Amino acid sequence: MATLIGRDLLSLADLTREEVESLLKLATQLKSKQVKLHCNKVLGLLFSKASTRTRVSFTVAMYQLGGQVIDLNPNVTQVSRGEPVQDTARVLDRYLDVLAIRTFAQQELETFANYAKIPVINALTDLEHPCQVLADLMTIQECFGCFQGLTLTYVGDGNNVANSLMLGCALVGMNVRVATPNGYQPNSGVIELAHKIANHKTEVLVTDDPETAVKGVNVLYTDVWASMGQEKEADQRLPIFQPYQINEQLLSLANPNAIVLHCLPAHRDEEITDAVMEGSQSRVWQQAENRMHAQKALLASILGTD
Ligand code: CP
Ligand code: NVA
Repeated sequence: MATLIGRDLLSLADLTREEVESLLKLATQLKSKQVKLHCNKVLGLLFSKASTRTRVSFTVAMYQLGGQVIDLNPNVTQVSRGEPVQDTARVLDRYLDVLAIRTFAQQELETFANYAKIPVINALTDLEHPCQVLADLMTIQECFGCFQGLTLTYVGDGNNVANSLMLGCALVGMNVRVATPNGYQPNSGVIELAHKIANHKTEVLVTDDPETAVKGVNVLYTDVWASMGQEKEADQRLPIFQPYQINEQLLSLANPNAIVLHCLPAHRDEEITDAVMEGSQSRVWQQAENRMHAQKALLASILGTD
């Protein structure tokens, strides 16, 4: 089992390649029920943005480990009334064993982690979505057996999911290409870090040309064109992102055995067509299920087992 006892997961780059591989192995064993772990601890969920998958998969994972969960909706805590992050962190630290936070600024998550001694997990910020990408890597491994020689192309907005995917692919040694409109590229610091992690051994490419980027690739990935907090820009983005839609025509350029992933929720017929989402190459439901297995492995590795 990965020895991550007491560690935070604020960015996917907090993990080494070996740690990611170990988490994926444990997640696979948990999914197949080869191992059963027990961890009687309390997880707090402090989510300032909506969530279906992350909230429910973390909750069920913790219950299945024999632990408990407290949903700390900011609207029913003093957080929404302006209690400083530094104060909330030092209080929750004294009640909980681990805290998963979904918020806007990565800086807020980092402040929380600095003030709380318990492990803090990034359950999505504007910058990253590391828990999502652990499940994505697990899904790719299930479908192809390994990462070596594979290429993943992300098409769409260079958002939190794109950032974590770049880091995740670089870590496991899978080629990664990101095709976005100009001005919507992934975070520049993340691109630099992905190049550093890949260390010239695997491809890390950012382009504005979706067709070239998907040619012959094994995994096609997309996410919404306007993330939570960017709703006001959504309409104005539609024409800019239209050439970056995953549709049957774009999919036909990929390897015939390519799979299609989407972190969900999806806006059908915007970033992905209904036909592709429901088509034979889509693995989005398997991917969503794996959130629970991957996060169960993460919780057990961070908290230790009874
Ligand atoms: N993919 C994902 O994080 O979904 P939720 O926003 O529903 O948690
Ligand atoms: N990029 C999306 C992901 C949702 C899971 C968002 O941040 O809204």
